[in-house]
Amino acid sequence: MIDNSYKASVDRYDESLVSYRRSGNSGIKLPTLSLGFWWNFGGNDSIEESRAKMRCAFDNGITCFDLANNYGPPFGSAEETFGRIYTQDFKPYRHEMIVTTKAGYNMWDGPYGVGSSRKMMITSLEESLKRMTLDYVDIYYSHRYDGETPVEETMQALVDVVRQGKALYVGLSNYPVDVLAKAVEYLEAEKVHPLIYQGKYNMMVRDVEKEHFDFVQKRGIGFTAFSPIAQGVLTDKYLNGVPSDSRVGCGKYLTNANITPEILEKVAKLNDLAKQRGQSLAQMATAWILSHEPVTSVIIGPRTMAQLEDSLNYGNTYFSDQEITMIEEILK
Ligand SMILES: NC(=O)c1ccc[n+]([C@@H]2O[C@H](COP(=O)([O-])OP(=O)(O)OC[C@H]3O[C@@H](n4cnc5c(N)ncnc54)[C@H](OP(=O)(O)O)[C@@H]3O)[C@@H](O)[C@H]2O)c1
Repeated sequence: MIDNSYKASVDRYDESLVSYRRSGNSGIKLPTLSLGFWWNFGGNDSIEESRAKMRCAFDNGITCFDLANNYGPPFGSAEETFGRIYTQDFKPYRHEMIVTTKAGYNMWDGPYGVGSSRKMMITSLEESLKRMTLDYVDIYYSHRYDGETPVEETMQALVDVVRQGKALYVGLSNYPVDVLAKAVEYLEAEKVHPLIYQGKYNMMVRDVEKEHFDFVQKRGIGFTAFSPIAQGVLTDKYLNGVPSDSRVGCGKYLTNANITPEILEKVAKLNDLAKQRGQSLAQMATAWILSHEPVTSVIIGPRTMAQLEDSLNYGNTYFSDQEITMIEEILK
């Protein structure tokens, strides 16, 4: 039985657990946490739990919902979940929401269902809008540089969807910094400022610190971090075996190779530090990302309501010099 009685909390901004940060030098502020739909909102997941998580997120100030054409599984089903819940619960709140989608990875059969061609970027957005029951997205991302499509072709497709009113802003994800520079130059020449760069960033994967952070800051572009707790590795869940419902337990994208004894030794030490700070490790890992200046938002991917509530309460983002040194020592 669908509960259609949702009214968003009247305190959603006053008492919000998140705060808002400007995305680069744009006019848009994004919540410190965004809700990501990659794995836990698909056709195989409970629609009622997805609904509960979306409501809880929005009631606590999360205004940004991060999707892509192929999130699920199966592909497309996370956008369908979003569309169903949006239609039933969130239509009155559209102007309070930042909804994103992306194209670039595998989506449908044949040579046009993958990559960053104009054909893919334009037709995929049409399909995404239908699945999400939206007229436009707030941010349309090129999900990745595919290594073969001329970057000018992908960027012109982004420019065109903005001109057509199907996207308000554009973003880029998974681009090497030299290609990112070319892409940004093209977009700026067309007067479509890229709002945000989306990159993998967590305590264990820090590649973006080398060049991307400096680049986005210089160019006035926001940064949003994905896989903030390394898909669950940066929690205490694997310290005493593999829970059957976890990503490693289900063989979903993570395997035992991601939780070697060396990795778990680091995780155990980080977990001790988190306890001393009065945080769960997931909270400390999220707070640590937010303590880095270029970061606008962290995209969380909670499977359960309990995980969402834990992440929402991430708490203190200040790290003393001593704590920073300890973390660097552990991560060496
Ligand atoms: N642009 C890109 O290429 C790209 C790539 C990947 C993701 N993303 C975006 O980023 C979002 C997040 O990525 P992600 O799913 O890899 O994020 P993540 O937060 O690092 O991992 C999510 C997993 O961590 C565990 N978890 C989450 N919160 C927890 C908590 N508070 N306590 C304990 N465990 C917790 C759950 O694992 P269990 O299921 O094992 O419990 C959950 O399935 C995606 O939904 C998507 O929107 C973008």
